Amino acid sequence: MTLWGGRFKEGTAAKLSQFKDSIGFDQRMYAEDIAGSIVYARALVRAKVLQAEEAETIIRGLEAVRKEFAARQFEFRETDEDIHTAVERRLIEIVGAVGGKLHAGRSRNEQVATDLRLWLLHRLPKLDEALKRLQVALIQRASEHTETAMPGYTHLQPAQPISVAHWLLSYCWMLMRDRDRLRDARRRMALCPLGSGAIAGTPFPLDRQAMARELGFTAPTQNSLDAVSDRDFVAETAFALALIGTHLSRFAEDIVIFSNPGFGFICLPDRYSTGSSLMPQKRNADVFELTRGKAGRLLGNLVALMSMMKALPSGYNADLQEDKEAIFDSMDALAAMIPLLADVVVALEIDEKALRAALDEELLATDLSEYLVRKGVPFRTAHEWVGKLVAMAEETGTSLSALPLDRMQAVSQRFEKDVYRVFDMDHSLASRDILGGTAPQSVRGQIETARDCLERLDEIGGMG
Ligand code: ARG
Repeated sequence: MTLWGGRFKEGTAAKLSQFKDSIGFDQRMYAEDIAGSIVYARALVRAKVLQAEEAETIIRGLEAVRKEFAARQFEFRETDEDIHTAVERRLIEIVGAVGGKLHAGRSRNEQVATDLRLWLLHRLPKLDEALKRLQVALIQRASEHTETAMPGYTHLQPAQPISVAHWLLSYCWMLMRDRDRLRDARRRMALCPLGSGAIAGTPFPLDRQAMARELGFTAPTQNSLDAVSDRDFVAETAFALALIGTHLSRFAEDIVIFSNPGFGFICLPDRYSTGSSLMPQKRNADVFELTRGKAGRLLGNLVALMSMMKALPSGYNADLQEDKEAIFDSMDALAAMIPLLADVVVALEIDEKALRAALDEELLATDLSEYLVRKGVPFRTAHEWVGKLVAMAEETGTSLSALPLDRMQAVSQRFEKDVYRVFDMDHSLASRDILGGTAPQSVRGQIETARDCLERLDEIGGMG
């Protein structure tokens, strides 16, 4: 029997049950659902709806149900539509009719809104911790390579030399903002809907402050209609997760490119590489390709949630049930991916020889213009002159530094003997010693700041 069968003359069609039941996926929230029920039972006592002994019986029953779930011994019935009905059904089986008193003034609408908020509040800190570990790995690797130059790219064309540390840290900063976003989402999420009823609020004088506090929320929600029907906390989290996926997909793409033999900057150790069933020589970076691919899935979940919510009429609608699979999937994808990425970052082999070989002197064309600017030449003119030298070098098939001084001076007399000092990658890196620049000294400062920010994120907490 369902928990709402009174007004119906026949049972639910099997196909409808299969179509609408959410127990298959919302049972993941059993602990949150039971915690909410225990708190609700206590509030009913204070509101004089339940006797203290009745509540004790109910709470004992709920603890027993929790144990069954924890031990994977909970036996589902066909009529268990969702986690809320399953828990209540089993409670009544265990404690008898008194269990039927728990749902007084309560609706599954507020239960599901409460459960999902709690579920995310409980799990986001673990994800945050994993992201931190990845950041620590990036910083660790960066600290080994503050002086290692590599080509920096714009439009994926060689642009200017940067340090490997600078490249790695760029991702650390993206993740810093992502973690801050998770805190932000979590702060807005931490409000308790219990007491909202189906849409209108509960007629019993429940202490909503106490229920919120006991469940670890910061406060109760302010509008029952809003509380049961909005899923902005889910969408916001899905966005934060999709953006994490997007950031990681960019990192992954860099590694796919850099580990290609055409670049050869990075080698994945065997244990993180995959082979081809056909081509014996292949060494694939599946871990990064999948990271790239998962970003699409994370974005898809966000789009699914937003489209599900769009134009829903006021109040609870069954459409909202679609929220859980999407957000669970995003959480699962990142929970599997981020700890692995942290391990892989620690193990990445950086081939300094390949990097040196890739540092073509053309990467210093901008430095060459800046050499002229220091001598008072307007930058636009300098750009033009250096462009001529680049063309000259390309035509003769030599490097820039192999151009004799008299050929340079045929372009401009402002090129002097000291011009050859420009052709030094380390010098180029060191010259960009501005805050946020790639000079080893700046990057060491950047590492300090990143470490401070990690500590500050720990302090802001909100993720405990
Ligand atoms: N399984 C439902 C969900 O996930 C719980 C709320 C059901 N409420 C209702 N009135 N049908 O949204």
